[in-house]
Amino acid sequence: MRILLIGSGGREHALAWKIAQSPHCEKLLITPGNAGTATCGTNLPYHVTDFENIRQACIDHKIELVIVGPEEPLVKGITDYLISDKALAHIDIIGPDKMGAQLEGSKAFAKAFMMRHQIPTAAYKEFTLQNYQEGITYLQQHSLPIVLKADGLAAGKGVVICHSPFEAVAEYELMIQRAKYGEAGKKVVVEEFMNGIEMSVFVLTDGKHYVILPEAKDYKRIDEGDKGPNTGGMGAVSPVPFADKSLMKKIEERIIKPTVEGLVKDGLEYRGFIFFGLMIENGVPRMIEYNCRMGDPETEVVIPRLQNDLVLLLKATAAQQLNTVNIETDTRTVCTTVAVSGGYPGDYEKGKEITGIDKVNPEDSILFHMGTTVKDGKTVTNGGRVFCISAYGRSVFDAAEISRMEMLKVNFEGKKYRMDIGYEFE
Ligand code: AMP
Ligand code: GLY
Repeated sequence: MRILLIGSGGREHALAWKIAQSPHCEKLLITPGNAGTATCGTNLPYHVTDFENIRQACIDHKIELVIVGPEEPLVKGITDYLISDKALAHIDIIGPDKMGAQLEGSKAFAKAFMMRHQIPTAAYKEFTLQNYQEGITYLQQHSLPIVLKADGLAAGKGVVICHSPFEAVAEYELMIQRAKYGEAGKKVVVEEFMNGIEMSVFVLTDGKHYVILPEAKDYKRIDEGDKGPNTGGMGAVSPVPFADKSLMKKIEERIIKPTVEGLVKDGLEYRGFIFFGLMIENGVPRMIEYNCRMGDPETEVVIPRLQNDLVLLLKATAAQQLNTVNIETDTRTVCTTVAVSGGYPGDYEKGKEITGIDKVNPEDSILFHMGTTVKDGKTVTNGGRVFCISAYGRSVFDAAEISRMEMLKVNFEGKKYRMDIGYEFE
């Protein structure tokens, strides 16, 4: 198969790494990719929302399968755009259309979907300029903490947990009156705060059937002990030690099944990954949010545990034959630690040379590039999250230890990483 993968992060390197191992992959192109994906296939220069050039690349390179990594092109409708072209009618696309991607693109849409299909989640109300005053009263009377969410995509920043009515009203005003998160943030979802521990479950669906991929837990805060500002993710582990058979069964029965059935009932076309962000309290799972794609860095621990041929799995998704597939999983634990640029998630510099990449022990570790590029023959930093090292071990403790040890070998000026990924399971 001739395959085009869209994206440039660690998620895409992990997907490209897995796809390149398949005997069914004849040619792999990645756009725009990073220095890591360039070792698995050929990078193209087009940005993920440059639909016109991506369309032309599909034609020029006789692409048969497109995999969309990040949410932005999905929410902007890349799937609809490509399939509406007669020249591309034969192409299979992994990633929902614009309507399906609303599960991530609009928090209000996702909450209404959960309500309609009786999927357990936090109670909520939505407010805009139209019912602005009603919202203020609601915030002042609500129990604390309270969660405010900008409706649209906000690069992972649109969620604010408020601990006083004063803070909540101030944030609410910033979102609605001052468009802190742009137009899409002028609608606000106000939600009950859920206690518990978070985990993520990943499903691949063909719109009729689904398979469940290995679950994961990520670590979003910049500093050890889950302190400091949120990031795209500083590390992840899979499997999640507390996700036993009984919990996974509840998640499947109460959340996954009604979601896939809900997509069918609502007439939503969905072929692709669904990322379920869950809160678990006393063994009871509730939905926090959907993403219409795989997570990053969760993919970097999920994909190394997946033993199936990914190309065959994606072909079965496109052909709506996932009912014929069994997921096979490596029983070992995988832990990944992310190295970020100094200053991230605030301002940071790019273009720092990365050394020691070839020193990582291939027997139990994989280095996935995130924000990297090649400049004058050298691999240099090109983003906030620069690379991660995913390590296999017999336990979280073991895998985390190996990941941290390998981390010592690869360096760039200003490198920072967390030493405590998986700490609560060690
Ligand atoms: P989201 O962008 O929806 O993933 O939210 C970002 C993070 O905010 C989540 O990963 C949770 O840690 C937290 N969060 C969101 N909604 C809630 C909620 N209702 N209760 C508690 N924490 C939440
Ligand atoms: N690691 C969280 C995400 O991919 O959204």
